[in-house]
Amino acid sequence: MKIKTGIVIALLIALAGSLFIGLGVFNISATEKHWPITSGLIELVRERSIHMRSRDIKAPSLDNAEMLRKGANNYAAMCAQCHLAPDMEPTELNVGLYPQPPVFYEADHSIHDPAATFWTIKNGLKLTGMPAWGASHTDQQIWELVAFISDLEGMSPQRYKDLVGEGEHSHAGENTHERDTIEHNDGH
Ligand code: HEC
Repeated sequence: MKIKTGIVIALLIALAGSLFIGLGVFNISATEKHWPITSGLIELVRERSIHMRSRDIKAPSLDNAEMLRKGANNYAAMCAQCHLAPDMEPTELNVGLYPQPPVFYEADHSIHDPAATFWTIKNGLKLTGMPAWGASHTDQQIWELVAFISDLEGMSPQRYKDLVGEGEHSHAGENTHERDTIEHNDGH
């Protein structure tokens, strides 16, 4: 008897689940925000996932003017349209994204853990629009971005402009051997 009740309950749950999906009850639109409990759960999953995967990564020294300059250049070319930069108006891309990309130069969105930031930039974040930059950039280039973002909180528009200068954009060569050689600079 008990087994039969269990089977009936399991079938009812499966039916409810199928109807929920089949009738399109869930609104996938980026304009419909998650419930607070869903957002809280996603944030917890993201934090734990990144923490467990980045805890053995050793950050190289990031206090280096050349790294900062190169990071600023790649940031201006590849990240600012989503994450904005000092003195920059919101962009069409940035206002439409959900979840919203954090604005790093504002104090409450600053970055504190270099290894976690490196892992996130290299691997991207599923279902958010945050790309995996490791597909096109060397570890060294990603550490340069980490160095720059770590310094971005409260940066003046003038300093940002000076760092970006004329603007230049670098990425990994097509040749995987070349990429391997450069990657030995990454400190792990
Ligand atoms: C197409 C838009 C887009 C671009 C371009 C983009 N990002 Fe993101 N990024 C996002 C979104 C959206 C999130 C927030 C994801 C979330 O809330 O889980 C994010 C999150 C992040 C985070 C995690 C922040 C945190 O709070 O832990 C880092 C670090 C980051 N991005 C760095 C970069 C860097 C560096 C670049 C350029 C190389 C870049 N992003 C380019 C959309 C973008």
